Amino acid sequence: MKKVVLTGIKPTGTPHIGNYFGAIKPALEFASNDEYDCYYFIADYHALNQIKDPEVLKNNVKELACTWLACGIDPKKVVFYKQSDLSEVTELTWLISNVTSKGLLNRAHAYKALTQKATEEGADPDSLVNMGLFNYPVLMASDILIVNSNFVPVGQDQKQHVEMARDIAQAFNKTYGNTFVVPKELIKKDVGLILGQDGRKMSKSYNNVIPLFAPSEKLRKLVMSIKTDSSLPTEPKPTDSAVFNLYSLFANPSELEAEKKKYEKGLSWAEAKQDLFEIMEKTIAPMREKYDYYMAHFDEVEKILADGAKRVKPIARETLDRARKNMGL
Ligand code: ADP
Ligand code: TRP
Repeated sequence: MKKVVLTGIKPTGTPHIGNYFGAIKPALEFASNDEYDCYYFIADYHALNQIKDPEVLKNNVKELACTWLACGIDPKKVVFYKQSDLSEVTELTWLISNVTSKGLLNRAHAYKALTQKATEEGADPDSLVNMGLFNYPVLMASDILIVNSNFVPVGQDQKQHVEMARDIAQAFNKTYGNTFVVPKELIKKDVGLILGQDGRKMSKSYNNVIPLFAPSEKLRKLVMSIKTDSSLPTEPKPTDSAVFNLYSLFANPSELEAEKKKYEKGLSWAEAKQDLFEIMEKTIAPMREKYDYYMAHFDEVEKILADGAKRVKPIARETLDRARKNMGL
């Protein structure tokens, strides 16, 4: 039997280079391997605790769906869907919440960070927390368990959530007999953290992102705005800089070797950034063309998502029915 791989991305902003290398590209590598059945989805239910403007949410979903497709997801092979089209997920969330201890959720990093922030501000610890945030890991466990996932490729920041899904599956199986496949996270070690223009982790939260499909001229401007040191144009340049870090993501080994030599010999930052822009543009331009196409023909994308939902539904239904039956419903 093929192993099941599942992952989701939240539609919380315009997809950026960090999302591409940290999440989308690794997921596409699994999808191109015939040993796996892949389920990739847009976690719009999960975005609700952050995005309160319906138009913003819709636009984020649109951009994310078009991004996945432009990056090369094959919707005939991968089951590609929107979480909110799979209502079985919310029903299963309720069932499994009955074997989830509150203490487990109290330990979630995101929840703890917010209670700590409120406490530091002298407010009630739970004043910043809605139940969508508190229950976030249970919904995520439901996403994972409902399609019998074996593997869940995620970034390091999501490791705890997949561990919780595993704990919940085991607790349920212990109480009600074998019902769920126990999942495992897959953390891609060699990707590391992609840095933004300011040298910190590229993240929407830091406002330092390079959108994956920024128009060419905008991309050039963003690349030119990457923070650098004030060394002279002829001096060697550090290969642990954000500029080189980004270059290395797009380059093949021989391109990388050649660029490294230029850095060691000495080049101006303007030239280094021009090299970076050119290599980025080479990779991104063909994908951007597809992205622009899907953005302009979103009805085609909606059909693809609807087809994905139709394919995942019977599998989800079967898992849900098994859980209901084992619980005595
Ligand atoms: P952001 O930090 O911009 O809000 P998300 O938390 O929505 O990004 O991340 C979505 C996915 O992209 C996650 O799997 C995450 O691990 C990955 N990711 C985000 N930023 C980076 C980065 N700078 N480097 C590597 N992976 C990243
Ligand atoms: N929590 C994940 C994130 O913030 C998104 C997500 C939701 C997810 N459900 C999932 C990831 C299930 C993997 C599996 O990036």
